[in-house]
Amino acid sequence: MAQINPSILSADFARLADEARAVEGADWLHVDVMDNHFVPNLTLGVPVVQSLRKATDTPLDCHLMIEDPDRWAPSFVEAGAGSVTFHAEAAAAPVRLAREIRALGARASMALKPATPIEPFEDLLPELDMILVMTVEPGFGGQAFLDIMLPKIRRTRALIERHGLPLWLQVDGGVSADTIERCAEAGADVFVAGSAVYGADDPAAAVRGLRASAERAAAAASGRGGSGGSGR
Ligand code: DX5
Ligand code: ZN
Repeated sequence: MAQINPSILSADFARLADEARAVEGADWLHVDVMDNHFVPNLTLGVPVVQSLRKATDTPLDCHLMIEDPDRWAPSFVEAGAGSVTFHAEAAAAPVRLAREIRALGARASMALKPATPIEPFEDLLPELDMILVMTVEPGFGGQAFLDIMLPKIRRTRALIERHGLPLWLQVDGGVSADTIERCAEAGADVFVAGSAVYGADDPAAAVRGLRASAERAAAAASGRGGSGGSGR
């Protein structure tokens, strides 16, 4: 079952409660936290997550593009995030951090920038609930999808299957009606979409359209014998 997570980075920050309600059929609301150090952009922090939690029933998927997530991630769980993603490149102690996020009651997720391979993290996968394969360099919405990430999505799906883990595989960056089928075919099952949802005239309809496309592509891929099984 494909999950669609609209990114509020492409929403109107002065009307966040309305913008959250505009996508109420979405699976999660993707909240991009940027600190102007890990990425060259600055967005929002814990108080905004606390307010969003009260403004919508949609669970919050917080993507931390920040330095020192070991220090800050627990505060986002306490603020109401149902899933917290830290970057592999930024975490000092990813196993301890993932265990702490889970112990506080949220799903623990780890993100990889485009140049970071999945293979060194194979042994960590049981500690995680989701892997995020970035399909743009993190920092901004509206960038072009990086097709060169498709092999990494396939290899990540193959590792998840080899270990028989219940992990979700998220993609984020440039996901749209034009690119979502390629991601689903490669083995992604959670799709972040910012401009493709909030740039649409009807964001809720855009969510439904993306989900239908992803499910069609995943069904076609499994009909052909599954995605990523060969590791390529
Ligand atoms: C980028 C963020 C994304 C961003 C995606 O660094 O992590 O979540 O909002 O935006 P689109 O879907 O427009 O590429
Ligand atoms: Zn994101």
